[in-house]
Amino acid sequence: MSEDAGGPDRRKLEIFAQGNGPMRLRLRPMRVSDISEVMKIEVRSFSLPWTEDAFVREIEKIPFSRPVVAEELEGRNGRAGTAVGGSATGGPAIAGYACWWEVKDECHITNVTVSPEVRRRGVGKFLMREILKEARRRGAVRATLEARISNEAAVSLYEGFGFAPVAMRKGYYPDNGEDALVMLMEFSPDGEGP
Ligand SMILES: CC(C)(COP(=O)(O)OP(=O)(O)OC[C@H]1O[C@@H](n2cnc3c(N)ncnc32)[C@H](O)[C@@H]1OP(=O)(O)O)[C@@H](O)C(=O)NCCC(=O)NCCS
Repeated sequence: MSEDAGGPDRRKLEIFAQGNGPMRLRLRPMRVSDISEVMKIEVRSFSLPWTEDAFVREIEKIPFSRPVVAEELEGRNGRAGTAVGGSATGGPAIAGYACWWEVKDECHITNVTVSPEVRRRGVGKFLMREILKEARRRGAVRATLEARISNEAAVSLYEGFGFAPVAMRKGYYPDNGEDALVMLMEFSPDGEGP
């Protein structure tokens, strides 16, 4: 399991964007060494959490996958690493993460998750904004994703970025048979936003 696997394409994804909100955030590609911290957030966020292996696959095996983490540069006490109790390595804590696939000219977002301790502070918006910016920069013309129909926070976040429902997948989620809302956003051709 090498840390820097993913090929030359992945190395191009060295995004260093700063958030302007109340938290100072930095986006960077997810590494295998992040997975233990990511899993702590994942299992508290979903009834059907991804496994460690699933994240390893995203990082190392799927050439068109672009997983990222948002690090909290300065914690609430003025120290780095307070978002989820500090990172295992003593570095900045992971406030949230997201995975997306670059499928030709489409950005398919497969996971957006924010640590429960720091929700409603703009981390979700930061992740979405930076992913969509990067996808557009790389040539995407549209973005798609799926959300549980009951997930009002996620649906509202996505609507804020111009996503609209285009289809329903009946009984998509095996834990409770809930429907998935398929949402689509087309980038405006004039290059404005997100
Ligand atoms: C959905 C999620 C990623 C939002 O992250 P966040 O950092 O709390 O979101 P932000 O603070 O950036 O809020 C952005 C927008 O999301 C919406 N939102 C976020 N939390 C919300 C809530 N509890 N209720 C309603 N809307 C909410 C709002 O539209 C908000 O915009 P506003 O602040 O202008 O009202 C977060 O709640 C989460 O990780 N949930 C669990 C995992 C999950 O369901 N992921 C999505 C899978 S499809």
